[in-house]
Amino acid sequence: MNPRVSQAPAARGRLITLEGIEGVGKSTNLRFMASRLEAAGLDVLVTREPGGTPLGEEIRTLLLGRHGDDMAVDTELLLMFAARAEHLARVVRPALAASRWVICDRFTDATYAYQGGGRGTPATRIALLEAWTQDELRPDLTVLLDIPVELGLRRAGARGAPDRFEAEQLPFFQRVRAAYLARASQEPYRFRVVDAAQPLAQVQHSLRGIMDTLCCDVPTAPGAPLR
Ligand code: TMP
Repeated sequence: MNPRVSQAPAARGRLITLEGIEGVGKSTNLRFMASRLEAAGLDVLVTREPGGTPLGEEIRTLLLGRHGDDMAVDTELLLMFAARAEHLARVVRPALAASRWVICDRFTDATYAYQGGGRGTPATRIALLEAWTQDELRPDLTVLLDIPVELGLRRAGARGAPDRFEAEQLPFFQRVRAAYLARASQEPYRFRVVDAAQPLAQVQHSLRGIMDTLCCDVPTAPGAPLR
């Protein structure tokens, strides 16, 4: 090999996150998004937060379980980031390094929305943990499924016994939704907001467009932002 010919760096994978309040239809649409990327020949890993690792799933059980109803706000925040640190170290970073495309059901925007908007933790405190846990890593693209709170809760309510977050009341979810929308307007280049109150076929039409654009628009420079 000619040593003067520089090797093109291996393309790193991409981190795509899916966000929204309860009842937006994340599970169905997550599978749909993954199938579009797979159809384009990409190596896709679907995962979730809190969770995604054996220890992370145990932390999830602590966070969502009703025995934790009186959990302190800081405990909740730190457990979210403990699960995230484990997930990043064991699953997300290795997958990205292996050029896989990771679709994560919730990530740090959920912390800003739920612990920040919902519980009232200052964003500066969340940002400290984000910087510590993630260094420079941020999602390449975030799809926010947006829905009026009353409609989301009506849909989610049909699912049986509520977990510790689902048991929260309307004003909590109004603050969560507002925090999500505020983040989306602060970072419009990263977020795609999809109206999840539409019929599923229309939601998936929008998602198909977003995913297909993404597949055709892979930047050549590693780390270059997606348009
Ligand atoms: P879900 O993954 O089934 O939607 O539920 C996870 C719950 O955890 C959901 O109510 C949102 C909450 N959550 C936070 O409060 N902060 C976070 O950082 C994450 C990832 C989730």
